[in-house]
Amino acid sequence: MKFRFLSALIVSVLFSVALVAQPRAQMNESKREMTVSARYMLVPAADNGSMARLTLTMDGESLLGEPQTIRLASAESAAYWIPIDMADKMGKKVTVTIAGGVADDVRFADLIPMEYDEQYRPKYHFTPYFGWTNDPNGMVYHDGEWHLAFQSNPYGTTHSNMHWGNAVSKDLIHWENLPLIVAPDSLGAIFSGSSVVDANNTAGFGKDAIVAIYTSAGRMQRQSIAWSNDRGRTFTKYEGNPVLADPAHRDYRDPKVAWIDDKWVMSLATGEVITFYGSKDLKNWEKLSEFGRGIGSHAAVWECPDLLRMEYNGEEKWVLLVSINPGGPNGGSVTQYFIGDFDGKEFHADPLPYPLWIDWGVDNYAGVTFGNVEGRHVFMGWMSNWNYSNFTPTRYYRNAMTLPRELSLKHNGNHLFLASRPAAEVYAARKQATEPVDIKVKGKAYIGDLMDGFDGAYGMTMRLTPKGNGEYGFRLCNSLGEYAEFRFDPAEGTLTLDRSKSGKVDFSERYITTPIVTPVPEAKSYELELYVDKHSTELFINDGDVVFTNCVFPNEPYDSIEFFSDGKSLKAEDVTVYKME
Ligand code: FRU
Repeated sequence: MKFRFLSALIVSVLFSVALVAQPRAQMNESKREMTVSARYMLVPAADNGSMARLTLTMDGESLLGEPQTIRLASAESAAYWIPIDMADKMGKKVTVTIAGGVADDVRFADLIPMEYDEQYRPKYHFTPYFGWTNDPNGMVYHDGEWHLAFQSNPYGTTHSNMHWGNAVSKDLIHWENLPLIVAPDSLGAIFSGSSVVDANNTAGFGKDAIVAIYTSAGRMQRQSIAWSNDRGRTFTKYEGNPVLADPAHRDYRDPKVAWIDDKWVMSLATGEVITFYGSKDLKNWEKLSEFGRGIGSHAAVWECPDLLRMEYNGEEKWVLLVSINPGGPNGGSVTQYFIGDFDGKEFHADPLPYPLWIDWGVDNYAGVTFGNVEGRHVFMGWMSNWNYSNFTPTRYYRNAMTLPRELSLKHNGNHLFLASRPAAEVYAARKQATEPVDIKVKGKAYIGDLMDGFDGAYGMTMRLTPKGNGEYGFRLCNSLGEYAEFRFDPAEGTLTLDRSKSGKVDFSERYITTPIVTPVPEAKSYELELYVDKHSTELFINDGDVVFTNCVFPNEPYDSIEFFSDGKSLKAEDVTVYKME
């Protein structure tokens, strides 16, 4: 899929070159002068609209920075209207230039014409208010707030025009969408990266400045920085950008920075390895080492690293997260990890049976942890897969983040592994619970309307104890006969999710409808924690030993559950449903 993504980029680069190269008369450029008469400028668009480039100028200044790629539609064929906030420009004249289309249907309105609570909009997961998102970026805790920047296309619902969108939360569950913080410039689009709190003012931007370190993705990928002195609400780009470049690398991105002992350490995805750099001031970087040749999965270039100092039984251990796309055990995007040691310069992996995956589901990618958090490793990923993320059936926004998860090291009898359980904040968001139900299943048992009234957004806990060796499991069902089936196979030691009948499945040929499989350790009983939020299922087994994140798009919310047992019987105990608020 990366291939498709890169070719899209190449197409858009070629496209802009073509626009620049053509003589003016042939440019099919439309210009319109308008007076800002209401808060939002609205530009009609649709995913299948024609590719065009939008520029807004006011008093000789470009309002959007670089021209933005849009999928232009007419007022009649618009699937959505791109909202551009002009609150502080009321009454002024703006020139709208559209290369590759006409500006006739651009208009102003006081409200954004969109249905915020559209069918699949999650209730307790982060989504952008409008437009596309992929990776979480700039994740850092500061002064009582969790900061979540994100790969954002504010001008459409597919991957393009990468900016850093911005959101904050006090509880990791409820997010406030804020204005964009970093926009593309002459160095390129703004790709993934991280933020740090510069408590000692090492960079000279001020004590406790939040400093964002991101990839400027133009003809080359280089690293740049920007800082904020107003609690992450606005950022100023450093005039010395880029701060790190190496023409030898084409794929050179996704800097994750942390203060380690006596310096800043950057983990950077460089082709198929991770390169570590060190710095005293976030501006001057020197190479420390490389890691990754000949170890782990190299099915694709490496992306979005994160180096974590963890502990197991009082002993320090280091974990390195690395995302790859494609190459997942179930297809498409996936995150692998390594466990070992870091001496301030080099990372050495313990000899383990790599690749190890952080999540065996197909919808958890590019995840990293929040910086500046004492004693916890709080992880969030992008809850989608590059195989089909541009086509999922939402309208005004596209894609969500996973729930926040707490990472820890555990031992499985053979070796250490990385467990992910829901963060404590997820439990705090569980509000009302149903009376726990116990049932003994012979063949099939159906609990109708168990999740009725939860409107497709709930948490569920239960303990499953099978008897005999047959397969068993449960289906989340709706009244349309659609279901998502979770099936344990004790003989194989696996759990599979079958989403072929889960609802909408034909929005992309690459939406995975073959069974999605995860190994599960042998146990007498399994404690299950399942979070369903409109279009997502996140399953945690035995305290996060297994984690399985997968999206589904039922045409109506799943409101009942059916247990099945091909073996002697199955006990489903303490089946409890929680309202999540
Ligand atoms: C991962 C990724 C990153 C890149 C970003 C671009 O999903 O490809 O490597 O920085 O997305 O949006």
